[in-house]
Amino acid sequence: MAQKQKETSAEAIRVVAVAGARPNFMKIAPLLREIESRSNVEAYLVHTGQHYDQAMSENFFSDLRIAQPNLNLEVGSGTHAEQTAAVLVKMEQVLLAQKPHALLVVGDVNSTLAASLAAVKLGVPIAHVEAGLRSGDREMPEEINRILTDSISTWLFTTEEEATGNLLNEGHTLDQIHHVGNVMIDTLLSNLEEAKRRDTLKRLNLAPNEYGLLTLHRPSNVDDPRVLQGLFEALEKIHKQIPIIFPVHPRTRAAIEEKLGGVKTSLRLTEPLGYLDFLHLMSEAKLVLTDSGGIQEETTALGVTCLTLRENTERPITVLEGTNTIVGSRPEAILAEAQKALRGDGKFGRTPDLWDGHSAKRIIDILEKDLGGSL
Ligand code: UD1
Repeated sequence: MAQKQKETSAEAIRVVAVAGARPNFMKIAPLLREIESRSNVEAYLVHTGQHYDQAMSENFFSDLRIAQPNLNLEVGSGTHAEQTAAVLVKMEQVLLAQKPHALLVVGDVNSTLAASLAAVKLGVPIAHVEAGLRSGDREMPEEINRILTDSISTWLFTTEEEATGNLLNEGHTLDQIHHVGNVMIDTLLSNLEEAKRRDTLKRLNLAPNEYGLLTLHRPSNVDDPRVLQGLFEALEKIHKQIPIIFPVHPRTRAAIEEKLGGVKTSLRLTEPLGYLDFLHLMSEAKLVLTDSGGIQEETTALGVTCLTLRENTERPITVLEGTNTIVGSRPEAILAEAQKALRGDGKFGRTPDLWDGHSAKRIIDILEKDLGGSL
């Protein structure tokens, strides 16, 4: 079903917005809502189809009340080259047909980079939301996506001050960089009350503050059977003290079956959850263990202790100011930090500047000002 067209003037600023994978949907939602509220800006939403399962995609559109995309490119899964190339080729056609004034991309997934590459070659300026984050680890596919997308973007919208330094070091100029806060936290704040009204905990038979919540999907954790096995050993021990609920990403489900021969685990596995159920679970958890980027930020905004099962983070503000601790994937380190959190000695932290629910407005204000003059 196509998105309903709102009434806009002939001189309206036209933006093609792109979302492709699960972590994009909560970032694009407040931007689309902000555009929808303005008569002189309009968005054409392209879903690349990088994520396509009901649980990885469609549920987020309904939970976040995002209108159906104008177009779904249905690229699906594949190698990095296949996925990136498919989006690149199809996005070129979309941009040629739509002739937008700008391309709006969020985050660091393959779809973000591929759509940006199509745009820059056609002279369509790119607005990158969540620019400047760097883990310093070029083995992460997302790190390459971040560096390359930023390098060809016109507007660099950042979530934290450290990103400004990263961008200046790479030769960007201050007039391109706009510290606007975090659109994902716009979405969190506007949905928290509704999420908490859901019966998620009851359905899963959990009591507030008496469970841990786990997510795991990074190739560095799930693709190497020894690393995955080590993680499970530590997690099983924590699970003996406090139940761990584990919504399993399809990539991880496949790794458990193929690489560990369907390892026997007593952790409480579920299918991937929708946005509101997951937000509810995060907000009431004693402890969150994750290798996700976004969850490090969401737990900081919620004041919930987070242990990040990676060796680094591209989101240092969650460690410096928030509730996040980087523990890596060594079982002893995970266990030691989890014990601290269970004793109530986890990090509390504070919410970073401008993570206040108004980031999408700041972004669209800037785009409207910069693009309005050139029409
Ligand atoms: C992608 C992003 C990652 C993000 C993550 C969130 C890149 C490089 N990676 O990783 O940054 O944190 O999304 O989930 O863009 N699959 C399904 N159904 C789906 C989607 C995927 O079964 O709807 C399975 C497929 O077997 C696929 C695998 O999951 O091969 C991995 O999907 P893919 O999109 O390649 O990367 P993610 O690991 O999800």
